[in-house]
Amino acid sequence: MLLDRYQRPLRNLRLSVTDRCNLRCSYCMPEKEYVWLPREDILHFEEVERLVDVFLDLGVDKVRLTGGEPLLRRDVTELVARLSPRPRIRDLAMTTNGVLLADTAQGLKDAGLHRLTVSLDTLHRDRFEQLTRSDELDRVLAGVAAAAPIFPGLKIDTVVIRGTNDDELVDLVEFGRGHGAEVRFIEYMDVGGATHWSMDRVLSRREMLERLSAHYGPIAPVQEASSAPADRYRLPDGLVFGVISSTTEPFCEECDRSRLTADGVWYLCLYATHGVDLRRALRGGATPGELAQLITASWEGRRDRGAEQRLAARDRAPLIPLATLRRDPHLEMHTRGG
Ligand code: GTP
Ligand code: 5AD
Ligand code: SF4
Repeated sequence: MLLDRYQRPLRNLRLSVTDRCNLRCSYCMPEKEYVWLPREDILHFEEVERLVDVFLDLGVDKVRLTGGEPLLRRDVTELVARLSPRPRIRDLAMTTNGVLLADTAQGLKDAGLHRLTVSLDTLHRDRFEQLTRSDELDRVLAGVAAAAPIFPGLKIDTVVIRGTNDDELVDLVEFGRGHGAEVRFIEYMDVGGATHWSMDRVLSRREMLERLSAHYGPIAPVQEASSAPADRYRLPDGLVFGVISSTTEPFCEECDRSRLTADGVWYLCLYATHGVDLRRALRGGATPGELAQLITASWEGRRDRGAEQRLAARDRAPLIPLATLRRDPHLEMHTRGG
C-alpha cells in the first residue's frame, strides 16, 4: 500500500469536474471577479478515466465528484456512468450545492452514483441571498426534497459562520430529520479563496455542541473508527449529526485525501500551494506506469499537515492574498473542490 511520510494511505480522490459555480458563497467566492481555468485545459472524460484508473491501481477506493458546482459540467451523469462500473471504486459520491439537483437526482442514481452531499447553509430566503448572492433557496430545497428519497443517507453540509447562520443549528438539524438526511456542521476555514475569513467568525465545535445540548440535552459521541473528516454525535432522541472541526481541531493525522482539479493538477492537501501537473504528463504521452511513478513519488514524499500548521500559526489572517489568487486560480477552494 502507498504510504506517505506519516504512514497515511492514499485512499480518497476528490475529483473537481469544473471550477465554475452558479452561487457565490461568502466563505468560498466572496469576490466580484474570478479568473477561470482555460477551457482547453479542462480534462476530457477519457482523460479523467485514464487518471482515475492509475489512482485505483495505487489503492484509491473512494472517489467524490466536486466542483465548483459539479452539476454545471455538461453531461456529468455520463462521467458518473463511465466511472461507476469500476468495482474498485467502493464509494462514488458527489458534493453539490443542490440548485440543479431536482432534475438530475434520478439520472445520477441511474448512472450509478452511490452517495450524495448537498451544501446548505441557511433556511432563510433573504439570508440565502446575502450568503450566496443568488435567490435560489427554493431550488435547493426542491433539490433536497427530490434527492432525499433517491439517495438514502443523504448528507447536508453547513458551514457555520458566527453572526451569519449560527442561530440556525437546531432548525437545520430538524430540517435534516424531516428529510432523513444527516447534517454536518463545518467550521469556517481559512482556505485559499476565503478572503473574508477571520478567527472571530469561526464557531468552534465546542460551541456548536454547547448550543445544541442546551436545546436537546446531553449529546454523546458516536464511537467509530474512520478517516472521514466528520465526527458524529447522537442526540438523546437518537438522531445523528456530524461536526467537521478542521479549524479548531484538525484531523490531518488521519488524512487519506487528495484532490484533482478539473484541469488535471493534483493537490495533496487542501492548503497546499503546489500541485503535480498530471495533465501535462498525460497529454505529453506518459504511460500509465509513468503516471503511477509520478503519483507514487509525490505521495511517498508527502508531509502535509496544512490545517494543523494553520492552527499553530500565531497571527491568523486569510491564507492567500487576493493578488496571488488572481495569478493562480488553483489556489482557490472552488478550484480544488474542498
Ligand atoms: P464523507 O465520505 O461522506 O464523510 O465525505 P467528506 O466529508 O469527505 O466529503 P464532503 O465533500 O462532504 O466534505 C465536507 C467538507 O469537509 C469539505 O467541503 C471541506 O470543507 C471539509 N473537508 C473535506 N476534506 C477535508 C480535508 O482533507 N481537510 C480539511 N481540512 N477539510 C476537509
Ligand atoms: N470553510 C469551510 N468549508 C468550506 N467550503 C468551501 N469553503 C469553505 C470554507 N471557507 C466547503 C463547504 C461547502 C463546500 C462546497 O465546500 O463544505 O459546503
Ligand atoms: Fe489533509 Fe491537509 Fe486537510 Fe490536513 S489540512 S486534513 S493534511 S487536506
